[in-house]
Amino acid sequence: MKWLLPAWICVCISCSCGLEISRLFDFWTDLFRPLPRNPNEGFIPDYTPYDQEEFDFIIVGAGSAGCVLANRLTEIGKWNVLLLEAGGNENFFSDVPIFASFLSTTSMNWGYSSEPLKRACKDLRNNVCFLPRGKVLGGSSVLNFLIYQRGHPEDFNDWARMGNKGWSYSDLLPYFKKSENIRIRQLMNSSYHGKGGYLDIEYAPYRSPLEIPFKKAGEELGFKWRDPNGEHVIGFSKPQATMRNGRRCSSSKAFLEPIRFRKNLKVSKYSTVERILIEPKTKTAYGVEFKKRNKRRQVRARREVILAAGTIGSAQLLMLSGVGPEEHLKEFKINPLVNLPVGYNLQDHVTFSGNAFIVNETNLCVNDMTAASPVSAAAYLAGRGPLTLPGGAAGLAFVRTKYAYDDPVETRPDIELVMGAGSLAGDLLGILRSLLGITDKWYLQVYGKLPFLTRQRSFAMNPVLIKPKSVGRLMLRSANHSDHPKIYPNYLEHPNDMRRMVEGVRLTQKVIGTKAFQRYGTRLHDVPFPGCEHLKFDSNEYWECAISQTSITLDHEVGTCKMGPSGDPTAVVSPRLVVNDVQGLRVADGSIMPRIPAAHTHAAIVMIAEKAADLIKEDWGMLTDSQNNTV
Ligand SMILES: Cc1cc2nc3c(=O)[nH]c(=O)nc-3n(C[C@H](O)[C@H](O)[C@H](O)COP(=O)(O)OP(=O)(O)OC[C@H]3O[C@@H](n4cnc5c(N)ncnc54)[C@H](O)[C@@H]3O)c2cc1C
Ligand SMILES: *[C@@H]1O[C@H](CO)[C@@H](O)[C@H](O)[C@H]1NC(C)=O
Ligand SMILES: *[C@@H]1O[C@H](CO)[C@@H](O)[C@H](O)[C@H]1NC(C)=O
Ligand SMILES: *[C@@H]1O[C@H](CO)[C@@H](O)[C@H](O)[C@H]1NC(C)=O
Repeated sequence: MKWLLPAWICVCISCSCGLEISRLFDFWTDLFRPLPRNPNEGFIPDYTPYDQEEFDFIIVGAGSAGCVLANRLTEIGKWNVLLLEAGGNENFFSDVPIFASFLSTTSMNWGYSSEPLKRACKDLRNNVCFLPRGKVLGGSSVLNFLIYQRGHPEDFNDWARMGNKGWSYSDLLPYFKKSENIRIRQLMNSSYHGKGGYLDIEYAPYRSPLEIPFKKAGEELGFKWRDPNGEHVIGFSKPQATMRNGRRCSSSKAFLEPIRFRKNLKVSKYSTVERILIEPKTKTAYGVEFKKRNKRRQVRARREVILAAGTIGSAQLLMLSGVGPEEHLKEFKINPLVNLPVGYNLQDHVTFSGNAFIVNETNLCVNDMTAASPVSAAAYLAGRGPLTLPGGAAGLAFVRTKYAYDDPVETRPDIELVMGAGSLAGDLLGILRSLLGITDKWYLQVYGKLPFLTRQRSFAMNPVLIKPKSVGRLMLRSANHSDHPKIYPNYLEHPNDMRRMVEGVRLTQKVIGTKAFQRYGTRLHDVPFPGCEHLKFDSNEYWECAISQTSITLDHEVGTCKMGPSGDPTAVVSPRLVVNDVQGLRVADGSIMPRIPAAHTHAAIVMIAEKAADLIKEDWGMLTDSQNNTV
């Protein structure tokens, strides 16, 4: 295998070049932007507001939710809107679906970490988990794995049952459909999908060869192949993705770029909001203070300030501005204006991604060698090929374990399996490793003995705990906005959660054991993880150890500004998303979710923003029938 070494060197060089170029782009994105591919795409002009400039609405954060809000509110011609975003532009690399995990290593990530945990991220990272969040136009929808998955209808009916009027599934389905432009032919006529919305949903143009055994394996195990955004969720499926012609369709590309020239919209990039201005007597929000290129400025809102800074950002800003648990704010000498349980109710999804499954045929899997090859790059430029796989995912399965006995909704899954076309074993360049926080030593000990080519013939099947019971909390570290908050996600601390993760591993083993996968001699790579060698390999205890070590979050943090009906002591915002006891201040992003849906969170957050925009229009008497195209 004389060509192997040169090939590997080529891969390394092209990737490190990629990294460097991406840094350049990061820095120079204002100048370099790949030519717009269609008239709805293009560079968003930067506007710097002057001190004390007034707007009708100020939106903080241009993430999954913020971009939707900016679009919908500026539909009202006489409203002028300022959108403040701490980050800058997306770039060529952030568009490539398979590079998703690489983006978390760039400056597009805020770079938060959790505080040390008891049952997750053990050993490798001193018990600290990385918590990537997007700091870029499009927010976390630029770092994410593109998977478009809404959740089980009863997830939303649960919200309504908690007293949140207007948030049942039948209230919300029209909003899911409103944003959507379904481009999957088989689903065009489905009553669950929308056509003509801003957000493009498609299947990756590349069909992973693993899709066929995955589908067949599901059938062998008695599962249907279906649209998990349709009537039934449980089953096997191909991932639906926020994608346009094989490229990432972030919230910014979908909702902001097409309206970038609206006169009543101003977007200020590289603008970090440090404080919401609240008049202490009347408790009315009248503006925000932000920092742009080392200058502090204040801007004023005639009507409302809307926080869309995400589960971490919105909660931190509220507390820094005096809205939060009184005792906690006093610790930092922050004047407490309104005593509310901000930061509690933090919920998230963890996944176990340390395992690799090895097949005996080349060309079934997509690992670094395939991803970095010039053929793949050329195919990508034409909108095809393996680089279009959303975060590398090639199949999703939603299943219900026996530990879901206390969920009365029998059609709701509690574990998801994500099949990745490649695996940690094939991660020669260390991109996945850096996301997981795995050291080279760990990698070499577990996967190093596998021959190079065998590592390329491996894929992943990762269980995700989609109905977790563990709940965490976010707290301030200091009264300084630059200090990242203290985040305690408490992953896997509820005993039922760990049991279900182990059950998830057992399920992957069942899938791998089917005829469909055994045709390729598929086997689990069985070198025990360092630190778990003292346990019998493949025992439940072994898997608990392995899971505590190499589980990572899917970055679905939600819930820190919980929505609830009036009188609910755990609520931060009302079902109209207005912050309790404060005038002129709303939160509309992932943080308002009372309970995390059994799904990836981006789709539901876009829906929340669509709904929020209508609530705002309604409250200001602007919801006419022609605007309200959801009814
Ligand atoms: C690596 C990764 C993979 C994921 N994979 C998937 C997936 O496959 N499918 C899925 O559905 N979901 C996925 N998610 C989750 C999903 O992307 C997020 O839940 C969603 O994007 C969050 O939306 P948001 O609007 O609440 O917050 P964000 O999208 O994070 O937006 C918040 C915005 O506010 C800005 N901001 C914050 N604070 C300030 C401030 N003080 N001043 C100015 N601006 C500020 C931020 O820079 C950001 O742009 C993933 C997330 C990550 C990080
Ligand atoms: C969708 O419905 C239209 C009109 O009823 C029909 O012509 C078309 O063939 C259908 N498409 C699919 C993919 O079923
Ligand atoms: C806040 O923290 C940053 C970074 O650590 C520091 O530069 C800045 O001076 C601090 N601000 C205050 C008011 O202490
Ligand atoms: C792969 O494994 C299967 C099952 O063990 C075997 O039948 C098949 O011949 C193998 N194929 C190759 C190319 O080795």
